Amino acid sequence: LFSDVQQAPPDAILGLTEQFKADTNPQKVNLGVGVYQDASGKLPLLRCVEAAEKKLAEAAAAKGYLPIDGLATYDADVKDLVFGEGSAVHDRVVTVQALGGTGALRVGADFLRQVNPDAKVLISNPSWENHQALFTRAGFTVEKYAYYDAEAKGVDFDGMIADLTAAAPGTVVVLHACCHNPTGYDLTADQWDQVIETVLAGDLVAFLDMAYQGFSEGLEEDGATVRKFAERVPSFFVSTSFSKSLSLYGERVGALSIVCADAEEARRVLSQVKIVIRTNYSNPPTHGAQLAATVLSDADLRAQWVAELGEMRDRIKAMRGALVDGLKAAGVDGDFSYITDQVGMFSFSGLTKDQMVRLRNEFGVYGTDTGRICVAALNDDNVGYVSESIAAVLKG
Ligand code: LMR
Repeated sequence: LFSDVQQAPPDAILGLTEQFKADTNPQKVNLGVGVYQDASGKLPLLRCVEAAEKKLAEAAAAKGYLPIDGLATYDADVKDLVFGEGSAVHDRVVTVQALGGTGALRVGADFLRQVNPDAKVLISNPSWENHQALFTRAGFTVEKYAYYDAEAKGVDFDGMIADLTAAAPGTVVVLHACCHNPTGYDLTADQWDQVIETVLAGDLVAFLDMAYQGFSEGLEEDGATVRKFAERVPSFFVSTSFSKSLSLYGERVGALSIVCADAEEARRVLSQVKIVIRTNYSNPPTHGAQLAATVLSDADLRAQWVAELGEMRDRIKAMRGALVDGLKAAGVDGDFSYITDQVGMFSFSGLTKDQMVRLRNEFGVYGTDTGRICVAALNDDNVGYVSESIAAVLKG
């Protein structure tokens, strides 16, 4: 049965973590995966999450099944967070708990394949590696729209709009709502308005991926794009995640929201999405969603979360500055302002695949082959070493 099964290549991102763990270099640094680490290089347990854990433990309850679409209070809290508290669109939005942002994307992709089977999917060039693989696995042909302008170090917005304008009606367009992964370059508010016009004019299906809400400017500011879409676009998809914002990576706490034309349509859509979930994993797990719901619904814990998220955001920004200083101190010539212009967890360094492989093999500094490094894993102790390692591979 398995004699013809081919050895698959390691995952472009999570495969690096496996390689990193096996690396014996004492100075190794994992800047591969998008995971925030604190100033001491540790994955943080947020204080708000720790407090929520205690609250849940005190009220320990039996472990029954959740509904197919997840914990109702969690789904409602996500809707408030993503679309604005008490927003007029709530009645026409379906929000279901999902296994992280990836799970949300996959449930959305499977449902889309059912309602829009002949559509192509367009992802940004470049995009998160798993977008291509996930939509391909779901049965779609995946192509790219222009996004990154390597020369100008920014977004090729004209190219993006030209590609979206040329797309056939019904084409699914995957957009990064904030903190573009991997480039760190987001659209301006005016550019988003033009994207919305293009989506409407071309009858495109927008799928907004928002895995990093809160890591650019703040929860409200980063959520503005989704709310802009909700005001103008009758139907679209949003995948969200608390992996990064609540540091709940392993709990797999995400959500899929589908904005529909009206409440009646939303009921029909929910009934079909529930079948997608039921036939995949039946219903989602309880603990992570309870933690998130506890934080979101308790005013004190929520305020603490906002503050802790701000601390993470500020520390990442400080590390961007430290990387610029480190590269200068290591003698690298050039303008590094792009590192501080970029937002979110990543910096798209412009390093080639060969240079990234050298960084890994010779220095134990792990980033993706595309040149992406996770600046959220830098700290005062490793930024100098990382800068010197980058300087060494740049010198050839
Ligand atoms: C990343 O891009 O590194 C993160 O989103 C983690 C992942 O699942 O790839």
